[in-house]
Amino acid sequence: MDKLEIIGGSPLSGQVRISGAKNAALPILTASLLADSPVILENIPHLNDVTTTVKLLRWVGAGITFHDGVQLEVDPSGISRFEAPYELVKTMRASVLVLGPLLSRYGQADVSLPGGCAIGARPVNIHVNGLRSMGADVTIDNGYIRARAKQLRGSRLVLDTVTVTGTENLIMAAVLAKGESVIENAAKEPEIVDLVEVLSKMGAVIEGAGTEKIRIQGVESLKGIEHSILPDRIESSTFLVAAAITGGCITIKRTRTEHLKAVLDKLNEAGGKITTGNDWVKLDMSGQRPQAVDIITAPYPGFPTDMQAQFCALNSVASGNAKITETIFENRFQHALELQRLGADIIIDGNTAISCGVRRLKGAPVMATDLRASASLVLAGLAAEGTTTVDRIYHIDRGYECIEEKLSQLGAEIRRLPS
Ligand code: EPZ
Repeated sequence: MDKLEIIGGSPLSGQVRISGAKNAALPILTASLLADSPVILENIPHLNDVTTTVKLLRWVGAGITFHDGVQLEVDPSGISRFEAPYELVKTMRASVLVLGPLLSRYGQADVSLPGGCAIGARPVNIHVNGLRSMGADVTIDNGYIRARAKQLRGSRLVLDTVTVTGTENLIMAAVLAKGESVIENAAKEPEIVDLVEVLSKMGAVIEGAGTEKIRIQGVESLKGIEHSILPDRIESSTFLVAAAITGGCITIKRTRTEHLKAVLDKLNEAGGKITTGNDWVKLDMSGQRPQAVDIITAPYPGFPTDMQAQFCALNSVASGNAKITETIFENRFQHALELQRLGADIIIDGNTAISCGVRRLKGAPVMATDLRASASLVLAGLAAEGTTTVDRIYHIDRGYECIEEKLSQLGAEIRRLPS
């Protein structure tokens, strides 16, 4: 397995261009299955999860063309299979996002249950119950969700928990259903707004994206469109933490500043001098050590759970004590055990990480357990004295495009050690 070797201790500085958002690209790619004609997408990030989703689209019969490495074209006219096999779903649970489109457009979908993952049980009961409310016959047997519906019908859905992909699957089911659907307690993430922008361009009739109540009028059919994927707010935030944790000065370009508010507030509290434009953010620490910050994760627009691990790393070297409470997933502190190997004074009490910042972490071999944990360990390695090797780095390749190239551009001493 590939490893990343990092020689830490120096402040990072410079500019970095933010890539398209993984968590917008994945639902938008599966939404292309709803159209009658080709969908052309730009600013698609080169990530393993995108590669897996493209494999899945090819598996069901979509034509995939990369035009000069910039534009990805999905031609849905040849769909002939309506399933997401375990071999693909086990590597990426977001494969469940084909459920809504296949059922809505073709009346059938057999999707392997994603199963749990490192950060939690990750059930899909809300996805399934919502489809049943829309008239689908959904059974679960030998590890597969088997859904059938001649014609989905609009329904009023009140989601028990705010779920991002649950909201996305149910929107994609409702756009071709007969009649009106209303989704209450919907997730409000910017990635959902981007998905709805795509669906609306295709001809869907949707109101309320980005609010907790989304209203959808079913239509007969949807057409192919062109779209550029919105910038990744988690990648944006991760690079800003790289500046904060090393006492450096970094400008992120081609981001969407309005999606970063909760994180920018916390980086400001940590002592970062922040200046912003509508598509760039500069964070300057002027060589200062960050202040520790308390955090409670929450659905958007609250503090994103996908930035929790990165702030655990920041607090490890910050001055003062702080508490980080994870309210979304039940097991998302595995990075804390690895941070302790680097000398962090961090203890886990239930769903809270309590840290007392140390002046210097010391490099050591550590192991990534999930995508954002691996980002946390890379950040800690950048701040640590000496050499840190991060093992199982395939996790980070799922969600960060060319991470070592981008960090090297900022002055990091980082290289990939092939297995
Ligand atoms: C999405 O996952 C993101 N993934 C995650 O990003 C992100 O951490 C998460 O939303 C929360 O923001 C994608 O968009 C591809 P949820 P998702 O359904 O949709 C419970 C990353 O690092 N729940 O919003 O799977 C669930 O257990 C990844 O990029 C049910 O109980 O998360 C959790 O406690 C990690 N039943 C809560 O809802 C359901 O049917 C929120 O999960 C669905 C969810």
